[in-house]
Amino acid sequence: MGLATIALRPLVFLGQLRRRLSRRAALRLNVVLAVTFALFLESILHVRSHTIPRPPRDLDEPFSTQCHDPVLAAASPRENATFVMLTRNSEMDKARSTIENIERQFNQWFHYPVLFLNNEPWDPEFVRVLNASVSGLATFEVVDKEDWGYPAWMDVDDAKAKIAAQGSEGIYKAGAESYHHMCRFYSGNFYAVKALKNYRWYWRLEPTVEFMCAITYDPFAEMARRGKAYGYTVALWEVPETCPSLFRAVDDFRVENNIPAAPMWRAMIIPSWAPWPIRRLKGLWSKDHRTRDGDRWNYCHYWSNFEIADLDFFRGDSYQELFQHLDRSGGFYSERWGDAPVHALAVHLLLPPEKLHHFADIGYYHEPFFQCPGNAPGGQLLNVTALGDNAQSSPESPGGIGCRCQCPDERRRNNRGVCLNALQTPAAFHRPGWWRRWRQFYPYTIGMERNVVF
Ligand SMILES: *[C@@H]1O[C@H](CO)[C@@H](O)[C@H](O)[C@H]1NC(C)=O
Ligand SMILES: *[C@@H]1O[C@H](CO)[C@@H](O)[C@H](O)[C@H]1NC(C)=O
Ligand SMILES: *[C@@H]1O[C@H](CO)[C@@H](O)[C@H](O)[C@H]1NC(C)=O
Repeated sequence: MGLATIALRPLVFLGQLRRRLSRRAALRLNVVLAVTFALFLESILHVRSHTIPRPPRDLDEPFSTQCHDPVLAAASPRENATFVMLTRNSEMDKARSTIENIERQFNQWFHYPVLFLNNEPWDPEFVRVLNASVSGLATFEVVDKEDWGYPAWMDVDDAKAKIAAQGSEGIYKAGAESYHHMCRFYSGNFYAVKALKNYRWYWRLEPTVEFMCAITYDPFAEMARRGKAYGYTVALWEVPETCPSLFRAVDDFRVENNIPAAPMWRAMIIPSWAPWPIRRLKGLWSKDHRTRDGDRWNYCHYWSNFEIADLDFFRGDSYQELFQHLDRSGGFYSERWGDAPVHALAVHLLLPPEKLHHFADIGYYHEPFFQCPGNAPGGQLLNVTALGDNAQSSPESPGGIGCRCQCPDERRRNNRGVCLNALQTPAAFHRPGWWRRWRQFYPYTIGMERNVVF
């Protein structure tokens, strides 16, 4: 039997059926068929309306594709920028390991200041040790009481009960009160910290992170020069149980403020194939991860423990209004909204694609995930003594853009690229074909060697 015959069978069957039916029944059948067809057409149009147009060129390319002489790079004027690390007294050794690492890979040449934040008074020993580890100015601030903790209007006993319930359900990091405070702080009040007021840019650090490549140019200066507002390294899925109603809360804010569903926002969405009435019912039935129209969040976000970003964007009215809207809904406590999905959804709602930057050239590790680029062939500047001994670096690899990277297992990687690919789509002129997507082979980042997979 030919394929055409098989395909036509249902039509033949329908024809036979019609002939056997009374006129009225045949009419009814026609109406049903017409409605089915219309719904089918509507769902195709709906999914098509979520297509993300291809920009005329790649809108985000690596800032650096090989080593530079860091002494020359550091001779240019510095940006109005600081490192920030929120940490506890008990994490002194971990904080020091991060600082020693970023000093070795970057700050020994650039001497940017480091602002240490704590929600409790500093231990003088911590201050002594960390102050001695930073080559720039080190400041140690305590977060204001009103910036750390429950919002004033919240029923604290109720919130505590909800946190305990999330803990007993085993939701990731949701049983600890302080973790909720930390996520809320990093989502909103962080940007109002007085000690940050005099800066335009921040680079977020955490205890026990590792930078695996030498960073031989000034990322702040490049962010400023290229008009970027938000830089990231790792993109990955959020744990859905931590934030069932977050996506809906952000999408409601979008609708209430007449913000169009631009390509950046659509990059966060998996459109529903269900026909209109079913789709709407899905959206009405459950708020979990869905828009009112029933389309679902793809769970993608950027891992915010690394961020290089423009404070003016986060301090600005549009972001702050979004934060207030989210805060009023109580989700930082009734659920465990992380600052990572909050930041990612916000930048995709409020910024155009060219304002985001993937730091593909930066090797970054925070357990358990990492990104590590291959080393740029011929770009390791072996004669530059400031870069020290090359013996520790991974071998050069075709298509690599890294500088003196020491990758843990000699492979470049960024979490299979599923989220990286989805979130970069609005900025990507070069896109992987369906075959590569299906096989989950994604280019490492936009604008790079297209044949290199990881
Ligand atoms: C850090 O060390 C420098 C140089 O020794 C000193 O001048 C400064 O007061 C110290 N800062 C703090 C916060 O202790
Ligand atoms: C640094 O940035 C802040 C915030 O944008 C601004 O208020 C301040 O004037 C800037 N300082 C310098 C020296 O440019
Ligand atoms: C190192 O070598 C590169 C070319 O390989 C050259 O452009 C550069 O000037 C050299 N730098 C030093 C410090 O010798």
